[in-house]
Amino acid sequence: MQIPAEPDRNLALEMVRVTEAAAIAASHWVGRGDKNSADGAAVDAMRRVLGSVSMDAVVVIGEGEKDEAPMLFNGERIGDGRPPKMDIAVDPVDGTTLTAKGRNGAVAVIALSEAGSMFNPGPCVYMDKIAVGPKGRGTVSLDLSPTENLRNLAKKLGKDVADLGVVILDRDRHSDLMDEVRSTGARILSITDGDVAGAISTAWPDSGADILLGTGGTPEGVIAAAALKGLGGEIQGRLFARDAAEADAARALGYDLNKILSIDDLVAGDNCFFSMTAITDGDFLRGVRYHDFGATTQSLVVRSKSGTVRIVETIHRHNNLTEFSHSGL
Ligand code: FBP
Repeated sequence: MQIPAEPDRNLALEMVRVTEAAAIAASHWVGRGDKNSADGAAVDAMRRVLGSVSMDAVVVIGEGEKDEAPMLFNGERIGDGRPPKMDIAVDPVDGTTLTAKGRNGAVAVIALSEAGSMFNPGPCVYMDKIAVGPKGRGTVSLDLSPTENLRNLAKKLGKDVADLGVVILDRDRHSDLMDEVRSTGARILSITDGDVAGAISTAWPDSGADILLGTGGTPEGVIAAAALKGLGGEIQGRLFARDAAEADAARALGYDLNKILSIDDLVAGDNCFFSMTAITDGDFLRGVRYHDFGATTQSLVVRSKSGTVRIVETIHRHNNLTEFSHSGL
């Protein structure tokens, strides 16, 4: 039988096993005050399940360079080498601090897209972001001020600016942004971590969030782009260098720090897949729960081509859980 070269399977449904494994592994570390072990356990579990998926994938966004990351390092080939050829971005734990402190909002996420279609952030750790849901698409731009964006969005949504919910990471670097947003009368929904889920919330019905603003991780921006493609929303990014040395390194590699990266620049094409499993409780997913039978996970699974959005609840039997915990916890 001829194996199709195009990714016409719904790989997101296979990716849900990957994020479930990562979330269960990380869940053993919830509240233990050790974010590196939580992350390590999730990476291990993710890597193990990913290896069993039939595809020929390259990690575009992983855990960093090979020397520091024994697994899921940037450039690593994943899968059994058979078509389809894919790019992968992983964030085994988005919210390592949330996990370590036992706080809400930690998730395991992965995004896949056709080979060559995913933006490689290179040395750029941060980017300025703006994300909106389906109704707000086309009304905002990183070229405009926050005030202008909020006014345009409110008009498009048929709301008062004061009724907008604005998601912003609670960071000192955002104090001017927060002052400006408050001066418009809009409400800030501040998050301490986890701006993948923050971006998705702008496209989630009844979440109360209308827009995400501010500077966050570049990997998280690319992963959120894959999710928002399927959810019909929009995200734009602009690389943000922390200092002159980082800016020089980025420019030397050909990155344009002034360019506004559209959702299509972040993930090109219309065939990408996204899966997110909650480690701790979140706004639209329940975290890992343990019970007599084993554990239950909830995941958000999105395919952009069809625009299908699934919430997958899975019950994992006890016997299978130990394989997700390399520490034996
Ligand atoms: P980690 O789980 O890797 O710590 O990332 C959490 C996070 O809040 C991301 O969601 C966000 O994009 C980034 O950190 C923001 O970076 P910083 O904490 O340095 O402001």
